[in-house]
Amino acid sequence: MEPFRIKAVEPIPFPTVEERHEALVGAGHNLFRVPARKITIDLLTDSGTAAMSAAQWAALMNGDESYAGARSFERFKAVVTELTGYPEILPVHQGRAAERIVLGNVLRPGDISVSNTHFDSTRASVEATGAEAVDLSVSAFQGVPNPFGGDLDLDALASLLGGESGRRVRCVVLTVTNNANGGQPVSLRNIAGARKLCAARGIPLFLDAARFAENAYLITERETGYADFAPREIARRMFDLADGCWASLKKDGIGNIGGLIALRDGDLANRCAEQVIAYEGFPTYGGLAGRDLEALAQGLLEVTEPGYLRYRAESARWFGHQLGLAGLPVLQPTGCHAVYLDAGLLLEHIPPHQLPATAFANELYLAGGVRVCELGTLVFGKPALDGGPELPAPRELVRFALPRRVYTASHLEYVVDVAEEVRSKAAQLRGYRIVRARGAMRQFTAVLEPV
Ligand code: F0G
Repeated sequence: MEPFRIKAVEPIPFPTVEERHEALVGAGHNLFRVPARKITIDLLTDSGTAAMSAAQWAALMNGDESYAGARSFERFKAVVTELTGYPEILPVHQGRAAERIVLGNVLRPGDISVSNTHFDSTRASVEATGAEAVDLSVSAFQGVPNPFGGDLDLDALASLLGGESGRRVRCVVLTVTNNANGGQPVSLRNIAGARKLCAARGIPLFLDAARFAENAYLITERETGYADFAPREIARRMFDLADGCWASLKKDGIGNIGGLIALRDGDLANRCAEQVIAYEGFPTYGGLAGRDLEALAQGLLEVTEPGYLRYRAESARWFGHQLGLAGLPVLQPTGCHAVYLDAGLLLEHIPPHQLPATAFANELYLAGGVRVCELGTLVFGKPALDGGPELPAPRELVRFALPRRVYTASHLEYVVDVAEEVRSKAAQLRGYRIVRARGAMRQFTAVLEPV
């Protein structure tokens, strides 16, 4: 059961089936382009979509909006330092600003950044420096379910470091949890293993800590020896093993906007601070209002509460189980922030270049106004150089992300009903053709048409 009661409510839209058709056509069959007022249940992302607590709303009134040295920064810094143990704290407006700034100061053209999987904006930040982003993930969903499917492949890292390109590796980034790999956690054992390999060569290890609390909680559930630890203690161990982190606070900050850079190295922090000044604002507010810093400081305390995290993990598990009972191919085990389906298994008659994951997501919208996110060939595929069909993504995933504290079990039951309806007509679904798509993150603006 949800460990909260509802104090403020927001009506949700119920567009008719005709309105949904019209909205999807008007959006070029791309759910990112559909206006939110045409969506009934929005599971597009867990980023910036959380409901704040009464304590967070109260904290907003304490925001100190001074340009420099605001009291709200002192509170934010105290909470983040207590949580991470890192002395150097810089707020920024969201995660991608943090990664641009840190990676921009660490990487040079020709360098390599290794990760368990760079999130797409992180990859873009690496590539913007002229460096190469190398993903070395363990297989999360092949064969037997892997409790730590988010781990970095340490053997592959060791052989990369020992090989010819080893000298080019300038940093290792562990994304916790591994969003691009089913939201699966990274074990403490794996972080310690990465630390050892990095330390031996003086390579910094960073955490992309957007979902650090969910990762810590899943460690208490899945890693031998940690069942009796508080998620906060585990989080501290994770941070202790790394040289610093950046985070989008739109996830486990339980905020609608915000991000941070937290480091041990004072020199690197000073260089980052210069860029924060250039792009974000004075280093004690970093593109945020004082009230945002207050709400985030409070959110970072709430997000590690065991009762909240238990609810978060259990509701994702329950939702995944219900979708499974309805005959949908759910990836197991579920993490916390989302449930993922393999649309390729359901829509075998649609070839990858005709975007089966998009076909499923769009039909879910048409059937019930539910918006989810495609993580298949539209996002991870590549146009073929010879003008032939798209090079496919490894899997045609669809992500049902769970905004924090926003939807109840009854909303999710509705989503399961709609998904079951789509499954029952899977054989009739048709694919899509890309009419227009541009840039590294083409999914946000692409225009599609049914084939
Ligand atoms: N790192 C991870 C692991 C993320 O999941 C995200 C965002 C970012 C960095 C970038 O942070 O959005 O604050 O600039 N993920 C969102 C998602 C967008 O839907 O998964 P940001």
